[in-house]
Amino acid sequence: MPSGKNEWWRDAVIYQVYPRSFSDSDGDGLGDIPGILNRVNYLDNLGVDAIWISPFYDSPLLDGGYDVADYRLVDPRLGEVSDIEDLLAAAHSKGMKIFMDIVPNHTSSEHAWFQEVLRSEPGSPAWDRYVIKEGKGSNHELPPTNWQSVFHGDAWSPLVLANGEKTKYWYLHIFDSSQPDVNWENPEVRAEFEDILRFWFDLGIDGFRIDVAHGLIKDQSFPDINYDSIPEQELLGEPILTPFWDQDGVHEVYRSWRKLADSYDPPRVFCGETSAPSPERLALYQRPDELHTSFNFDYLRAGFDAAKLKTSVDATLLNHKLVSAPATWVLSNHDIVRHATRLAPGQSEHPTIMPTPENADRGLSRARAATLFTLGLPGSTYLYQGEELGLPEVLDLPGDARQDPVWFRTQGKELGRDGCRVPIPWSGDIPSYGFGPGENSWLPQPDSWQNLSVQAQESGDTTLNFYRDALAKRREEPATGDGELEWRMDEFTIANDSVLAYRRPHPTQPLTCIMNTDDGMWKVPQIFGTDVLVASGPEVAVVDSGDGEHLVIGPETCVWVRG
Ligand code: BGC
Repeated sequence: MPSGKNEWWRDAVIYQVYPRSFSDSDGDGLGDIPGILNRVNYLDNLGVDAIWISPFYDSPLLDGGYDVADYRLVDPRLGEVSDIEDLLAAAHSKGMKIFMDIVPNHTSSEHAWFQEVLRSEPGSPAWDRYVIKEGKGSNHELPPTNWQSVFHGDAWSPLVLANGEKTKYWYLHIFDSSQPDVNWENPEVRAEFEDILRFWFDLGIDGFRIDVAHGLIKDQSFPDINYDSIPEQELLGEPILTPFWDQDGVHEVYRSWRKLADSYDPPRVFCGETSAPSPERLALYQRPDELHTSFNFDYLRAGFDAAKLKTSVDATLLNHKLVSAPATWVLSNHDIVRHATRLAPGQSEHPTIMPTPENADRGLSRARAATLFTLGLPGSTYLYQGEELGLPEVLDLPGDARQDPVWFRTQGKELGRDGCRVPIPWSGDIPSYGFGPGENSWLPQPDSWQNLSVQAQESGDTTLNFYRDALAKRREEPATGDGELEWRMDEFTIANDSVLAYRRPHPTQPLTCIMNTDDGMWKVPQIFGTDVLVASGPEVAVVDSGDGEHLVIGPETCVWVRG
């Protein structure tokens, strides 16, 4: 990480591991914790500062592990708690930190608490740990509110007891019906989650990514929502105001969690998966006594559009500055279409068909440019496993292989998120391409992935080597990471609204990041110099057209230059 900054999380590069798809040590087709351990050297050589591992808890896997059955157990298919200790030791010996995921908005319906609900009387203390309400209608046959699940369909399901007895009650599940929402009004719930944090902090975990951090508190008047007045609700509960997102009471929870994290030496760290209706509301989560950082989804949605990217960077930096918090940046994760596909020309945020080969190539060029642009911004950056290989989204998975609840709850009308979760190709020319010792992988990998494996990209001008190069430069260059950003847009001698340029000041080693989002070459004004530190694509040249040397950068390309 760049030198001179003492709080590592302010400018770290954090690599997201989706454990079931990363590396399989035993050949059962499911990635596991020993698999991650085998790849610690790879991650160290890649040049990341920390690893965030998506949930590896005991889970029935009805939502890829975000349905937790026991928060103090590792899914036996993935390993055991001692494997996490080994992984911590290995990562820490390389100076890398480990974040894990906490899922506090809901448990799995197989969690002991929910099972207790199903075996106890209405109104018993066990019921108060979940959001359970009487149905409407003369026979309570209607849900208590009209709230819709993020995964589509009603957000309430009738509560049927373990003995088969129907009740007049419904339980809330903002996500899948196998993920009942926990009642954060109940002090026992608060105490239990702090105890879970303590359990993992004591083990040496450096921090937590908080799942659906904005969702814990529900408006206790349980009003209906006027869905006609708001844009269509999108996956992951986008920045719309609802009675179950971004309620003021949620901040009290994080103030208490922060005290807990600060009681450790070194202090532990949080990053919220936080969607708020405005950058101002988002910044509230990063007040000095709350979460250290939050994901910044506004930037992720800006696409490959120079004006939108600039607007998002400006709003983000402004609002984070107000609360003295560093920004975070991310382009891909386990919930969204991989950015090599999403940024291809003509694609939407939720594409359904593969881009043409030509557009796929452009998607990759744009993705690499966007990555370099992102790595230069002030703050910390999250990378998602496989983006360093330029992996595309797999849009043509067979229906019977798909496992995302979104696919099931929309009866296949929406593909869901399996396409960005296909197991990583590491080596070889037959499936599972080194993901595991044999052929098994829980989702099938495309044939073309043999050319995208880590082994296939070890040498030459590959996306993997571009990431290694960019991450090494980010580490070496003292101007990157936390600090100031100055736009250099007014220095263009040729007006070009497809180009973005910002400078990271430093007394002796300033650098400027220039991105050309246009599909043509761009002659860079001489004032930017010609000393290229790293480039996202091959078409970068120093030319002299008679008026002295200047840089020319190719279409959809980003460079860092000294100065
Ligand atoms: C996670 C998703 C998950 C959902 C419910 C999210 O925001 O990132 O993968 O399905 O929360 O837990």
